[in-house]
Amino acid sequence: MSTPTSTPIVLITGANRTDGIGYAAARQLALQHGFTVILGSRTLSPSLDEAVKQLENEGAKHGVHALQIDVASSESVKKAATEVAEKFGRLDVLVNNGALGLPPSRTDIIEAYPKKKLAPTEHTRKDFEEVFAVNTFGIVDTINAFAPLLAKSASPRIVNVSAGAGSLGCMSWYPTNTTGGTNIVYSASKAALNMLTVMYSKDLPKLNPSIKVNSGCPGYTNTSINKHISSVIVEAGERTPDVGAGVVVWLATLPDDGPNGKFYCDYPPYSQKIGDFKVIEW
Ligand SMILES: NC(=O)c1ccc[n+]([C@@H]2O[C@H](COP(=O)([O-])OP(=O)(O)OC[C@H]3O[C@@H](n4cnc5c(N)ncnc54)[C@H](OP(=O)(O)O)[C@@H]3O)[C@@H](O)[C@H]2O)c1
Repeated sequence: MSTPTSTPIVLITGANRTDGIGYAAARQLALQHGFTVILGSRTLSPSLDEAVKQLENEGAKHGVHALQIDVASSESVKKAATEVAEKFGRLDVLVNNGALGLPPSRTDIIEAYPKKKLAPTEHTRKDFEEVFAVNTFGIVDTINAFAPLLAKSASPRIVNVSAGAGSLGCMSWYPTNTTGGTNIVYSASKAALNMLTVMYSKDLPKLNPSIKVNSGCPGYTNTSINKHISSVIVEAGERTPDVGAGVVVWLATLPDDGPNGKFYCDYPPYSQKIGDFKVIEW
């Protein structure tokens, strides 16, 4: 309860990797926008403590906190919301960033990525269940658990970190049958996430009329989710986590007259310039 209302508080799920988009967003929000940041991680670990210390050493002045939140577990999400309620009493920004690119039990494809990709008919129901558990159902749990804390904020924002690979429009014209760097499971989970954005953006203003819920795509970014192999989609060029985090930070800091229920990115063909955020077709 000690964080003044003038200091915004953000929780970012899956922000444990210092080479990931979530952590890059945390750094920008802490250092450039004066946020108190809560680094969500599915496990607490010495490397998470190091990640907290690194941000403090870089000059984060309003607090950097580690929080265990495994979005695949409803219990973990509820426990995390209770911890945030007890410690801060509210939440200003929720960034649903944690995600899986491939089903964890499919070590065959994970090990062979990006050389081996499965056709849609080769993916199983179990593959979908594993990925949806994090990328979609995990976000339902997280939004539902944190909505009461967001309701207490003056200008709450939810940023759903989606992907162009989850755009029905984009995937309809994408010119390969194996869909470039993506797979049907990941794409379907992010398409479903985009629907969550649309539906929550219409409903949550009943809890707090200032709330904004948007999807953002970081663009093809060099991170662990693609094994740091950034050459799969060449036209996007190589984007660093700092560049990829740009859309997250922009949506997290939208003014009260900013958009609600939209999907944005800053890469071609939708935008020609980094930092110039344009709507992606759903
Ligand atoms: N990189 C790209 O090209 C790209 C493009 C479009 C969209 N995105 C999206 O950007 C977001 C961040 O991905 P990234 O590229 O930065 O990859 P990343 O570094 O691998 O980050 C993914 C994070 O999600 C976490 N995570 C996985 N399962 C989780 C769970 N059950 N509960 C909580 N967290 C969980 C991971 O934790 P562990 O470290 O414990 O595994 C990791 O910290 C994702 O939503 C991704 O879909 C990325």
